[in-house]
Amino acid sequence: MADLGTDHVSDVPVVVVGGGPAGLMLTHLLARAGVESIAVDTRTRHEIETTHRAGILEAGAARDLVETGVSDRILRDGHEHEGTELRFDGRAHRIHFKELVGESVWLYPQTDVFIDLADARARDGGTVHFGISDTEVLDIETDHPRVRFTAEDGARHEIRARYVVGADGSRSMCRDLVPEGRRHRFAKEYPFAWFGILAEAPMSAPELVYAQSEHGFALISQRTETVQRMYFQCDPDEDVDSWPDERIWETLQARVAGEDGFRLKEGPVFEKTVLRFRSFVQQPMRWGSMCLAGDAAHTVPPTGARGLNLALHDVKVLADVLTRALGTGDDAVLEEYQPRALQRVWRAQNFSYWMTQLLHTAPGTGDFDHRRQVGELDNVVGTRAGRTYLAEQYTGWPTRES
Ligand code: DHB
Repeated sequence: MADLGTDHVSDVPVVVVGGGPAGLMLTHLLARAGVESIAVDTRTRHEIETTHRAGILEAGAARDLVETGVSDRILRDGHEHEGTELRFDGRAHRIHFKELVGESVWLYPQTDVFIDLADARARDGGTVHFGISDTEVLDIETDHPRVRFTAEDGARHEIRARYVVGADGSRSMCRDLVPEGRRHRFAKEYPFAWFGILAEAPMSAPELVYAQSEHGFALISQRTETVQRMYFQCDPDEDVDSWPDERIWETLQARVAGEDGFRLKEGPVFEKTVLRFRSFVQQPMRWGSMCLAGDAAHTVPPTGARGLNLALHDVKVLADVLTRALGTGDDAVLEEYQPRALQRVWRAQNFSYWMTQLLHTAPGTGDFDHRRQVGELDNVVGTRAGRTYLAEQYTGWPTRES
């Protein structure tokens, strides 16, 4: 019987808090393995769809979307990139991923990954509650955890499950449920942020351009033939309203300028956001009947676009572990999750940190620091070992099987 104040009670093996790409990919993979689950999110579908995030998927993640039947839209609307460009000292240097490590990456915005997953869940009859409020996650230290919430239509729900997954992003409420004395939070702050824009303009380059200059970092990315995504390093407290289009273009042009005369193709800017970032990991990634996945457990600075790829890797491992734990009734299987996920998490933490410090100018750095940084960049592009290192890290690592 429903509790007082509860209109709907459901019973499923897994309830997922978070309906972003990590949460939805997990419910999709579980459904394929015959495990029923429900996902919930405080944001509406529209809010998630219109929050612009990164745009690079590892080839393995792109293959997973296609081969597990989410969608093959990435093959039509995405762009395969066999390399990327590093620009410094006013010159361009291409890193040819395919030639160096036999892999490529796909330019396909995270919002499109989300749309494909949300459509696939709807098509396959999966239950996702968007726009919920009053979320409570209860009894995770028992083997019958529950999630209670108010749905968008005002109805009160309770979902009873065997396992809860916290895939509720970088402001996760689930991760706070691990008792303070039993969790460790590793964190690093950076003295800069990214100013991200979307502009109506033709493409300026066929692949991504990561630019280091004495004026600071800039990243030239793309969305479509007519919409471009670009970022430049800024102060974390920067106010977007003090940046008219002219000032934005002047800043970007100065950061990519060089002896080859490279110029960005300009156009009206229709979206401006300051993205603050930090490095963060919470361990353990499992507590009782709850596992954390994606940004809820770890966030990386955006340089190198590891965040979504890491989240998709977590849920791939988690789907396997949860399916086996439920199939055998053996909780101990869950102990495999953290070691299998965490190796990649710390590799990606290192890579994101490394690529950030390689390309950004920290306030107060002098001419020695700048020349040393150019020396490091020269080592990266000018030696086969350096190029291979970047290519291997950028395109991802193989999944550890157990
Ligand atoms: C994009 C974002 C990133 O952080 C990155 O490293 C590459 C591309 C993007 O939004 O396209």
